[in-house]
Amino acid sequence: MPPTITLNWRVLRPLLVLLTVISFVLYYLYLAYKPPTILYTDLFQSEAEGSKKLIHNEIGNRYVKFKQLQGAGFNNQAQEILLYHHLALQTSRIYVYQPLIWRPRGENASVPLSAFMTGPTEGTISEAVFDEVCPPSEIEYVTLGVDYIDQWKHALDILSRKQRCIVVNDKVFNWNFLASPGLHAIWPTFQTYIHNHFKWSQNVLDIVNRTQTELNLRSRLSPATTQGDSYMALHLRRGDFEDHCKFLAETHQGFTTWATLPSLTSTIFSPTLDTYNATTVMAHCYPSLWRILDAVSHQARDRPHLRTLHIMHDGAWDHPLVYLQYYKLAEALTNSDWAHRQGWAGGPMLRVTHSADVPIKWGERDFAVCTDVELGARAEVFIGNGYSSLSTQVIALRLGADGGKVDDITIY
Ligand SMILES: *[C@@H]1O[C@H](CO)[C@@H](O)[C@H](O)[C@H]1NC(C)=O
Ligand SMILES: *[C@@H]1O[C@H](CO)[C@@H](O)[C@H](O)[C@H]1NC(C)=O
Ligand SMILES: *[C@@H]1O[C@H](CO)[C@@H](O)[C@H](O)[C@H]1NC(C)=O
Repeated sequence: MPPTITLNWRVLRPLLVLLTVISFVLYYLYLAYKPPTILYTDLFQSEAEGSKKLIHNEIGNRYVKFKQLQGAGFNNQAQEILLYHHLALQTSRIYVYQPLIWRPRGENASVPLSAFMTGPTEGTISEAVFDEVCPPSEIEYVTLGVDYIDQWKHALDILSRKQRCIVVNDKVFNWNFLASPGLHAIWPTFQTYIHNHFKWSQNVLDIVNRTQTELNLRSRLSPATTQGDSYMALHLRRGDFEDHCKFLAETHQGFTTWATLPSLTSTIFSPTLDTYNATTVMAHCYPSLWRILDAVSHQARDRPHLRTLHIMHDGAWDHPLVYLQYYKLAEALTNSDWAHRQGWAGGPMLRVTHSADVPIKWGERDFAVCTDVELGARAEVFIGNGYSSLSTQVIALRLGADGGKVDDITIY
């Protein structure tokens, strides 16, 4: 028997070492990705308390609860919530907010909205208390969907009715509407809405502040004497997008939400998007690295003082090649010969930072996407993808909240 044991041990030892390493990695990932459960429980509770106070103190309120998207990406849910909150305010109704559904953690994993954005949770009520103020017998159920062009006005008309409690049965701000010119009618008032009501939670603002401090990035809204370098932000949307873009090309789809605004046509990098020419759809939706570099050059060429670039990307353990693309871009953008050949007046980028450099602590993983959006909004120049809801959210914040300029945006 002894010889067998010796043989086994030789095989077993490396195996044990490997298992130990794997356990440590898994444990680390578990801790890093573990949601802040206690914070979320507290916030759900304070949302319910605040809502109860509001319904008990006021008389004559009218309420509206919408059928919301559940489980798409953060920005898809966020943009819809902001549009619904805006619609409720425009018709003097109290918005009944719902939690976000955090898709990576399952189809019913909900997280409190106030952990992310506080605008739509102020002066509004949580769906948890909706029954108390609007018992089923007092609810009028309505359907709002009509032709896209008339959609906004029709929704305003119906929700302006006297009925105290309205529940909307259909998803009015669906994908097709969000890509249609019908959305444009909302922009003038939505811009004001963003200015007056858009607010990140303190959790998000703290991480953004920490990131700017550690990466030495200065907001375009801070005085020039503030510490840090002014920077350009580039949103690289890759991950699962390649297949998604092929689908969009086959089904002849154009940009989403605010990237379709006529006032932004001048920001769109050539070629002109022709939804019946798949080559142009792919060029915009899943551009080659060369085309992305051209888009950066287009903005960098005449801005010699702008020598720092931050890249927001979706590289992750399941999309590792995105990191390789990031390194290739960073390599070119910091190369003096390359920048010279491109005609950059001030030389290449001196520093390129990216999403993986953002100092996220344990329990903060859920807020990383909001941090990316806000870093895009605070950059001096923003380069983004017209098919991405993250990019279009950045554009809305720049043009709405901060009075940003169209010239400082490029949609590749
Ligand atoms: C999610 O919730 C719905 C409604 O409560 C339920 O029917 C469904 O089974 C749940 N799904 C999972 C995966 O728990
Ligand atoms: C971060 O917050 C601190 C305290 O409010 C402030 O003094 C500092 O300027 C902020 N840093 C940045 C980069 O905004
Ligand atoms: C599609 O667009 C590309 C790029 O602009 C162009 O070269 C090509 O000729 C177009 N194809 C058709 C069929 O129009």
